[in-house]
Amino acid sequence: MSSKLTELTSNNVVWHNATVTRARREAQNNHRGAIIWFTGLSGSGKSTVAHAVEEALHQQGCRTFVLDGDNVRHGLCGDLGFSEKDRQENIRRIGEMAKLFMEAGIIVLTAFISPYRGDRNRVRGMVGQGDFIEVYCDTPIEVCEMRDVKGLYKKARAAEISEFTGISSPYEMPETPELLLNTGADSLDRCVQEVMANIAKLGIFTSTHLNQDFEVKNQYQENGTQL
Ligand code: ADX
Repeated sequence: MSSKLTELTSNNVVWHNATVTRARREAQNNHRGAIIWFTGLSGSGKSTVAHAVEEALHQQGCRTFVLDGDNVRHGLCGDLGFSEKDRQENIRRIGEMAKLFMEAGIIVLTAFISPYRGDRNRVRGMVGQGDFIEVYCDTPIEVCEMRDVKGLYKKARAAEISEFTGISSPYEMPETPELLLNTGADSLDRCVQEVMANIAKLGIFTSTHLNQDFEVKNQYQENGTQL
């Protein structure tokens, strides 16, 4: 499989350099832009943790945005299904979009199953060293299936959904993620603390409040949904 998925269709497009650069935007924001890439099975807690981390970062004054699989598939990727080829295109588009957000100086948190190692690594290769932080939400499939928040595992077992990740389609776990979260057993608070501590250590933002409890209060918790 080619590592470059898009060839330019026209020779007559010329890159334009902005005077307001990423570095200037980051200086203004007082933190770096970065891509925090959550990967894991459906129901593993990616979106819940991503949104809770966003809440914590927002409270620290950081500029953030969450790109979420189910939402993006309603718009930008609404034409894509779940074949290997469509998932590859899904992740390519998300990667490009996340990169734009990052260049705008934003900490972008992505929550996609992104089951293929090659696709994730391709995004990693599109950005600089230290810009891509892979966070593996390690929840065993039995736990995801027991949670079955969207009722999709039940449908997949009944063969009402095909190519379902973990059941009839593969998931390739990260070999050396920047961070592994035990989202099957640990509390949401603990997972958020781990991500925050990790990205502070990587110098994405600086905080004097890391030992305090973050107010992990978001729509998910308010709705009473567990990780
Ligand atoms: S990815 O594999 O291409 O990264 P993505 O994260 O965008 O997937 O979308 C996954 C979401 O789509 C799941 O959380 C689930 O709600 C829904 N979904 C519907 N069909 C499938 C399927 N066959 N496999 C996995 N997820 C599916």
